[in-house]
Amino acid sequence: MPEAQMVGSSLEVRRPLLEVRHLVKRFPVGGLFGKKQLHAVTDVSFTLDRGEVVALVGESGSGKSTTARLIVRLYEPTSGEIIFDGKDILKTEPRKASLSFRGRVQMIFQDPFGSLSPNHSIGFQLERPIRIHKRARGEAAVRAKVYELLETAGLNPPEEMARKYPFELSGGQRQRVAIARALAVEPEIILADEPVSMLDVSIRMGVLNLMHRLKEERGIGFLYITHDLASARYLADRTLVMYAGHVVEAGESVDLMDNPQHPYTQLLLSAVPNPRAGLRTREVQARGEIPSLINPPPGCPFAPRCPRVMPQCRHTMPEVAQVGPDHWLRCHLFPPG
Ligand SMILES: Nc1ncnc2c1ncn2[C@@H]1O[C@H](COP(=O)(O)OP(=O)(O)O)[C@@H](O)[C@H]1O
Ligand SMILES: [Mg+2]
Repeated sequence: MPEAQMVGSSLEVRRPLLEVRHLVKRFPVGGLFGKKQLHAVTDVSFTLDRGEVVALVGESGSGKSTTARLIVRLYEPTSGEIIFDGKDILKTEPRKASLSFRGRVQMIFQDPFGSLSPNHSIGFQLERPIRIHKRARGEAAVRAKVYELLETAGLNPPEEMARKYPFELSGGQRQRVAIARALAVEPEIILADEPVSMLDVSIRMGVLNLMHRLKEERGIGFLYITHDLASARYLADRTLVMYAGHVVEAGESVDLMDNPQHPYTQLLLSAVPNPRAGLRTREVQARGEIPSLINPPPGCPFAPRCPRVMPQCRHTMPEVAQVGPDHWLRCHLFPPG
């Protein structure tokens, strides 16, 4: 929600840097003449501001990655608005021209090996975005910037790290390079899609702490995508719980995890702690499966699995209800108002 704030002597409406409104993505499936549609993302809305971490949690297939990819327009939304810095980028920026937007928003993927080029040195891979986005000019300035990025990402000594190739690095170091590369263009927002899921438990914490530092010290906003609720509670100011393409519950992270209201969130949090996953984490491993997203039936998507299902759940999607100062959910157990 935009907030009215006194700024200087004038009353200004301060809006968050990124606002996603009613985002929808349906993929056509089923061959040439298929008319079927896979409902990957349905009516997702949230805001993300500078210096804020928002977590997107949910089981595999719930639409988390698609949401991030829509924001950087790796996919074109079916409908909805993506308002960045006050402008609806879907209306004002053609997809191909969204490079400037991408300079302000960067994405980090789960597999740092896949996103780095095996044939180029780390230094070269960091120089390229600096040159493309003109963040430094001249050999010496570009090199200095590369070293500074490596140091920021905890890759020391930077002169040595710059000469290395991806295969010479550990998984954690590679993800730090991916973060350094994202930082090279000086983004205001980073969309991090399961950035620690493929890393050894012992090094996850270091990468999470790096993101926390970048939020605190540089005011970068993060969309932190994960299926690990404990790390979301640790890192994120607010958390959105996704199920089958819908945001079913959202709120301040600690409040949401300590007082989950939606039966799905409760199920996630009651799932057995996974002793291998570190952080004394609870990986999302609730029983049952996400329903088919192809031409899904009306009603709450969680109804078939819900221990508290009621007749209306099977035919009507619940409205959004507020259950705390910053705590929202969609569930017929909580009618709005
Ligand atoms: N390019 C695509 N074409 C068709 N279906 C897709 C595509 N990308 C994702 N999906 C489907 O959309 C749903 C949500 O996927 P995804 O966003 O990757 O979920 P998550 O990241 O939460 O695991 C899944 O059913 C997935 O198979
Ligand atoms: Mg994903």
